[in-house]
Amino acid sequence: MKQRSNKQFSINSFPRVRMRRNRLSEFSRKLMSENNLSFNDLIYPIFITYGSKVKEEISSMPGIYRYSLDLLHKEIEYISSLNIPAIALFPKIENELKTPDGKEALNKNNLICKAIQISKKVNPDLGVITDVALDPYTDHGHDGIIKEDQIDNDLTLDILCKQAVAQAEAGCDIIAPSDMMDGRVGAIRDTLDEHGLINVQIMSYAAKYASSFYGPFRDAVGSAINLSNKSKKSYQMDPANSAEALREIRLDINEGADMIIIKPGMPYLDIISKAKNELSFPVIAYQVSGEYSMIKGAIQNGWFDEEKIIFETMMCFKRAGCDGIITYFAPFVAKTLINKTF
Ligand code: PBG
Repeated sequence: MKQRSNKQFSINSFPRVRMRRNRLSEFSRKLMSENNLSFNDLIYPIFITYGSKVKEEISSMPGIYRYSLDLLHKEIEYISSLNIPAIALFPKIENELKTPDGKEALNKNNLICKAIQISKKVNPDLGVITDVALDPYTDHGHDGIIKEDQIDNDLTLDILCKQAVAQAEAGCDIIAPSDMMDGRVGAIRDTLDEHGLINVQIMSYAAKYASSFYGPFRDAVGSAINLSNKSKKSYQMDPANSAEALREIRLDINEGADMIIIKPGMPYLDIISKAKNELSFPVIAYQVSGEYSMIKGAIQNGWFDEEKIIFETMMCFKRAGCDGIITYFAPFVAKTLINKTF
């Protein structure tokens, strides 16, 4: 009996088992690969701004631009030609339009609503995702309304619901609430339904951490100055927590989210993996601005090989269980995939 178990042990181990055998040739590595990346995984964030013929580079995000609406159609055509299925639009609102209650968010003719209409006109098949949160519109840079020195959850919900309706009526396909107020997914779902917008999807930023990785984005949408050094810790999550992320995600699913976002991406792969394994629900990762800038900066310094590093990060998201990846690298990834496929 003892002998047999020893033999069994040796069959399952070195030298009979050589893990490297499967890795020796290129064809075999291809067969063994457990995950694949495709165009269908990509969502591209686009920043928009006022004026005409404006294409301004975001200084903390080399290679990423803000476009004025007259240049947006070209960018939409370009993204569509790369087989990228969806975009996420983010506006940089003029300072004069920012108020304590962020009411420009409700203007049916605001920058974001116009951008949605342009995108839908140029390519109705390109999925359009819009952020529901007040931070680009408030003069204090927070995602909600301030009352007695606190971000007032329930007052904020009312405005978020109206913001969601304005965007949905302008034609967006997916509402992405990114504010981390409690109960917003349920409130937005009910409001959309009351307005007959039953097929507008909700992609909720269910587990969004209070992260330093958003720094460059706040430059991009111009909320960094307004926010100054105030923190979002009273509504975004503590990076120390993971059980809490699953509670957040479960709540959003119960409130009617169609899919959930985990954000930031790569530093939070453990959360992505847990969410996918435990909840079997569509999971999207956001490889955020700071992740982009870090990687891009190292590429520009010659410290990383561009294609290899970007594709490795994409594969990490797939391995962790993502159904989609919001990434500023989407055009690069898609272009490279096109050249590889044909
Ligand atoms: C706004 C919002 C943020 C991001 C997406 N929506 C920033 C924040 O919460 O301060 C970050 C995206 C990125 O860093 O790329 N609610």
